[in-house]
Amino acid sequence: MSTLFRARVVDAPTGPLGAARLRADDDAALLVRDGVIVARGPWSQVAGSPEAGGADVVDVRDGLMLPGFVDTHVHLPQVRVIGGLGRPLLDWLEHRALPEEARMADRGYAEEVAGELLTGLASAGTTTALVFGAHFADAVDALFAAAEPTGLRIAAGLVTGDRLLRPELHTDAETAFRQGLDLAGRWHGRGRLRYAVTPRFSLAAGEELLASSAALLDAVEGSVFTTHINENPREVATVAELFPGTRDYLDTYDRHGLVRRTSVFAHDVHPTDRELARLAETGAAVAHCPTSNAALGSGLFPLRRHVEAGVRVALGSDVGGGTGFCLMKEGLQAYFAQQLLGEAGLPLQPADLLHLATRAGAEALGLDDVGHLGVGMQMDAVLVRPTAGSTLDVALRHAESADDAVAKVFVLGTPADIASVWVGGAAPGTPDRHPAPAVTHP
Ligand code: GUN
Ligand code: ZN
Repeated sequence: MSTLFRARVVDAPTGPLGAARLRADDDAALLVRDGVIVARGPWSQVAGSPEAGGADVVDVRDGLMLPGFVDTHVHLPQVRVIGGLGRPLLDWLEHRALPEEARMADRGYAEEVAGELLTGLASAGTTTALVFGAHFADAVDALFAAAEPTGLRIAAGLVTGDRLLRPELHTDAETAFRQGLDLAGRWHGRGRLRYAVTPRFSLAAGEELLASSAALLDAVEGSVFTTHINENPREVATVAELFPGTRDYLDTYDRHGLVRRTSVFAHDVHPTDRELARLAETGAAVAHCPTSNAALGSGLFPLRRHVEAGVRVALGSDVGGGTGFCLMKEGLQAYFAQQLLGEAGLPLQPADLLHLATRAGAEALGLDDVGHLGVGMQMDAVLVRPTAGSTLDVALRHAESADDAVAKVFVLGTPADIASVWVGGAAPGTPDRHPAPAVTHP
């Protein structure tokens, strides 16, 4: 079955950051077959073509169609602790995040939170996410089970640590490997789901656990690796003490073969030049989490140093250190951080923000069929259609150009302005045990 979308379409398929370009079509036709975009062009050309014959027409010219957002760093167990302001990372973990993470031992609790997470993602227009799961295999199983019917593209895994958290969150290398392999066996490659190997951070992961993470990554073909790095000076100093023989924080992972093209390191606010060179050399990506960096006082992300070193950078909400699921807000905060860095910052244009929130994330996750709305891509998209008379509505009606419109979306947009979401050309399904996402198919 084919669907022909008629829309004002804007995407940002190419970087580099600092020089991304928009591709904007005021009256575009997207012909979608089996969830894939098979033709894109001016409505006047595509609509009358033989291949569009018989397709259902969805006319959404009253909004702005963008690619679905890609969140490269978000925590399942932290939905309910969003807003824990006023504490630096290690203090926040101890007092806000980890007590809540311990509650995920209860499968019923985890199922509820998984529904809240998936609803939060879909409602914010996020169609692809790399999710830090929970320290309990049953909770991660609940997440995958809830994610499958939504159609969201989710990579997730068992979060592991064997020290310095809370005793009930600790595991050991052998158990971590066995439980991870079991979860991957059940969910990896099923529909749009993938397994992610996720030791929490090397502060909480000893050598054996990191070695078992690498073994799991090798054992599960096509899995991705993700963890935290260089977020907070006290954390960095503690890691240096815990790993006396290493060159730097990245080296604690690198010595185990965990720095790969399929690796995503969250934060990296305080990298050394050597670490940046090594990230670039391996092709590993960094998940930049701007609202979290501001909320936890972690620092201003050195984006220019990353880009100049050739490191791939994408965007993460880092819920619940971050302040919500909205990647428009993350994009705006990314822009602010660069402005506040002055000469050291990388000035970001509207196209850069859209690229960061979409295609850059897909590239970081090794996905070649999402992140923009060109031919051959999955029809993962959002429709920004603010309430009539709202400030965003006024701003969009008076936008001078596509770049100006995208700037207005990032400055003023909220999840309430996302009128529709499509994953593989259809509305997201409902996670079990939770009300439907507040998004509709037009
Ligand atoms: N480092 C280790 N765990 C976490 C976490 O849950 N959130 C953030 N922001 N950093 C971390
Ligand atoms: Zn995080």
